[in-house]
Amino acid sequence: MKTLIDEETIKKRVTEIAKLISAEFNGQPLTVVGVLTGALIFVSDLVRHLNLPVRICFVRASSYRGETTVPGDLNIDSSMLPDIQGRNILLVDDILDSGHTLSKLTSYLKEKGCKNIRTAVLLRKIGRQEHPIEPDYCGFEIPDKFVVGYGLDYNDEYRNLPFIGDLS
Ligand code: IMP
Ligand code: MG
Repeated sequence: MKTLIDEETIKKRVTEIAKLISAEFNGQPLTVVGVLTGALIFVSDLVRHLNLPVRICFVRASSYRGETTVPGDLNIDSSMLPDIQGRNILLVDDILDSGHTLSKLTSYLKEKGCKNIRTAVLLRKIGRQEHPIEPDYCGFEIPDKFVVGYGLDYNDEYRNLPFIGDLS
């Protein structure tokens, strides 16, 4: 498999992003909401570099695209989500592709009464976006390739690779 982004490069960038987030929130408490399962590794590396009082939780979002159910619908499992009313939220996902997941989850968390919401993605695929959402923090912009590793999967495999590989 071809390496698209190596381990060292990811590490450096994640640390940089954590510094920017810490500066923005400047000591205010932050609730980090990771999107399972893909954001698991990114969240765990990112939070260790945040110089803030941090809470960590997760939501699961599964897209029905390409299946027989409602096209473009997103199933949100928020059973692991604590009360987020009045909280500063950082929504974290592995990759921004069509933007569907992030835009739906952002609206959902706003409805739940959070004070403020920011978004962070490790990767953003260029030329694929259908929803007008701008991530507040983005690790790397990548070409339209299918990538795995550092949380990203193909059929639930490859998530544990410490680098981003090009599977296409
Ligand atoms: P979106 O809702 O179209 O933005 O898709 C985001 C989700 O699609 C991510 O959370 C990933 O789970 C998945 N995804 C999109 N592109 C890739 C890829 O290249 N590799 C692995 N998963 C991907
Ligand atoms: Mg995902």
